[in-house]
Amino acid sequence: MASRKLLLLPGDGIGPEAMTEVKKLIAAMNADLGAGFETEEGLVGGSAYDAHGKAISEEDMAKAMAADAVLFGAVGGPKWDGVPYDVRPEAGLLRLRKDLELFANLRPAICYPALAASSSLKPDVVEGLDILILRELTGGVYFGEPKEITDLGNGQKRAVDTQVYDTFEIERIASVAFELARTRGNKVCSMEKHNVMKSGVLWKEVVTETHKAKYQDVELTHMLADAGGMQLVRWPKQFDVILTDNLFGDMLSDVAAMLTGSLGMLPSASLGAPDPVSGKRKALYEPVHGSAPDIAGQGIANPIAMIASFAMCLRYSFNMIEEADRLEKAIAEVLNDGLRTPDIMSEGMTKIGTAQMGDAIIAKFRAL
Ligand code: IPM
Ligand code: MG
Repeated sequence: MASRKLLLLPGDGIGPEAMTEVKKLIAAMNADLGAGFETEEGLVGGSAYDAHGKAISEEDMAKAMAADAVLFGAVGGPKWDGVPYDVRPEAGLLRLRKDLELFANLRPAICYPALAASSSLKPDVVEGLDILILRELTGGVYFGEPKEITDLGNGQKRAVDTQVYDTFEIERIASVAFELARTRGNKVCSMEKHNVMKSGVLWKEVVTETHKAKYQDVELTHMLADAGGMQLVRWPKQFDVILTDNLFGDMLSDVAAMLTGSLGMLPSASLGAPDPVSGKRKALYEPVHGSAPDIAGQGIANPIAMIASFAMCLRYSFNMIEEADRLEKAIAEVLNDGLRTPDIMSEGMTKIGTAQMGDAIIAKFRAL
């Protein structure tokens, strides 16, 4: 039996509830398919701060480094609003991304036909939508130095964040975009702000060169990121793969999430470079939604983004393509059956909670 090591980091808010559904799924796959998943659990975010005074402990970082894949729930909440900046809940997630060198963040926005009416946009705009936002995840303004607030001594303070990209960082994320495009609609739209930012000038230049050198079979277009945001809500189906930096990717992927009906629907995969010897890559899978403290603990959170993130884990970390396809199909069919958590509820559908949604998807997965 294959051994597949997973580190589960449920985190805060609705993270643990959503993760519970994935744990059930893992148990089912071990029982039915001999999948051989071995899980360990750790703390991240506010829950880690409460236990260790840090957003993630060194011990859990070491576990993350050693795992084949990390499954991440969500972090943060008003309880930790006042904690020091360096140990705020989000710092745990950012450290995982940085130390594991997870530079490629895949955020697929798929509008299941059954949910076209749940989007705030008109159904014909989103129905059948299948786009992929590829966000650079370890560079840019998230990590650039200096990053500080200084006292100017005249009653004023100055805050500085630094947007910085080196050629290799743009080149490697652009290559991932082109490779992924070849497996889908063969189109990449790169978004930056070269009209105001030097980092945008270099971004556009390197993406263009990478395309010319190795990927001329893929269609490449460029868009200013603000216009890209507008086009995403005007006619999102014009896109296939959107390639963008860390900050623009953060914003554009929240916009894309709403096209799918709910923030509770969007999964993500954060991948490192394949190891030259073993071919394995470090990876973390997380729903794009946050910890939703307002509904935490009520059993009403939508677990689909978390479960779909696990489907991405099957696909990208374990090459379990058949199982990943089957799990995604199970999600679509459960939605076709009219089952809805409150965030995607509409007239005539059956409202259910987190655990019932998880159970329904697992039952469907087993039956397919
Ligand atoms: C995301 C989140 C994170 C980010 C936060 C929680 C640090 O918004 O993954 O989109 O800004 O990257
Ligand atoms: Mg975000």
